[in-house]
Amino acid sequence: MKKVLALTLALCLTLAMAACGGGGTSGGNTGGGNTGTNSGDSDGGQSSGSGQKTVGIAMPTQDLERWNRDGAYLDEQFQAAGYKTVVTYSNNEVDQQVNDIQNMLAQGVDLLLIAAVDGNALNTVLDDAGADGIPVIAYDRLIMNDNVSYYVSFDNYTVGTLQGTYVKETLDLDNAAGPFNIEFTGGDPADNNAPFFFNGAMDVLKPYIDNGKLNVVSGQTDFNVVGTEQWQTDAALDRAQNVLGSYYADGTQLDAWVCSNDSTALGVAQAITSDYTGSNTVIITGQDGDVANLRNIKDGIQSMTVYKAVNNEVLATLDLAKAILDGSSIDESLIASAGWDFDCDYDTQSYETTPGHTCPSFLLVPDVVTADNLEEKLVTPGYYTVGSDGYLQAANG
Ligand code: GAL
Repeated sequence: MKKVLALTLALCLTLAMAACGGGGTSGGNTGGGNTGTNSGDSDGGQSSGSGQKTVGIAMPTQDLERWNRDGAYLDEQFQAAGYKTVVTYSNNEVDQQVNDIQNMLAQGVDLLLIAAVDGNALNTVLDDAGADGIPVIAYDRLIMNDNVSYYVSFDNYTVGTLQGTYVKETLDLDNAAGPFNIEFTGGDPADNNAPFFFNGAMDVLKPYIDNGKLNVVSGQTDFNVVGTEQWQTDAALDRAQNVLGSYYADGTQLDAWVCSNDSTALGVAQAITSDYTGSNTVIITGQDGDVANLRNIKDGIQSMTVYKAVNNEVLATLDLAKAILDGSSIDESLIASAGWDFDCDYDTQSYETTPGHTCPSFLLVPDVVTADNLEEKLVTPGYYTVGSDGYLQAANG
């Protein structure tokens, strides 16, 4: 019944779009939701009966730089591998993403690949996928539903420990007298990754907070207080300005600010530039290698970013998807048989889609990028190029 209803919905949507001049096979993010992009075929993503498989690729938004890279590269690589693709970006709106995924199921995709807007909000549509026997790969962000077949991401806890360790080593917390003052900005509480990032950093730094070497002047160390809805730069900026105005306007020195990713680090850096009166350079951490942040790193405004090679995450996802669609049995041996030139761990313990139900996960290894190794880590492997202004730009434009 669900499938009939969903097919009817898709048919109505297609007819409505045709009436509005939209095409069933054209689209992409218009900013206000999605028509979805069916690539690699001329008949709107319907299985042509040629046996060619269709993969639904659901990205959360185009408002955050990295998902544009992921979505474009996933589309390119899956098509190059001979799959049809349906790619959507859901404006960071849960209802839109549910609708996008429902449409993919109605179009008869053979596999769903989802970076969730909210990992707790996809149960209905993933239950439908499970009922239809459609495998689901949770891409980068875990989804809390047992119909998820596999999870592909980076070791998210390690992302945080790398950020915390960078602060620990830069301030030389084991030897320096201190105390040093520090603040934290976490990610989106709706993103299952965000607590892993935050806890990874906090687990490194908490011993120094406890022994007084580090002092969180605002007293804001609870993830739910320091979190940033939808990872929005402006939200991070606003909170940082409030903290600086409330706790540092009297000339108190700020030594470090741990940010879980680059979009929030951008906001914190803007706040420090505009509102911090101290003469010292504040250590600022980040994640993703967003172009604006790489510029700030080169200019000494941001100290580091944790880089997660999208190319590698996509390649691991592609090889996993191939194995799933070929009906191969999947375990740790996929890593060796795929012959990847990057490290990846097969983890069957760390990530649970529901309590007690672990999701087999392929976790890639993140890397620390600073001004000293920007070119070695990002340009040499071909991820970025150096523009005429001397700053890094994404290799694929
Ligand atoms: C996380 C992702 C990070 C971060 C954030 C914003 O889930 O793993 O790379 O940038 O989303 O998109």
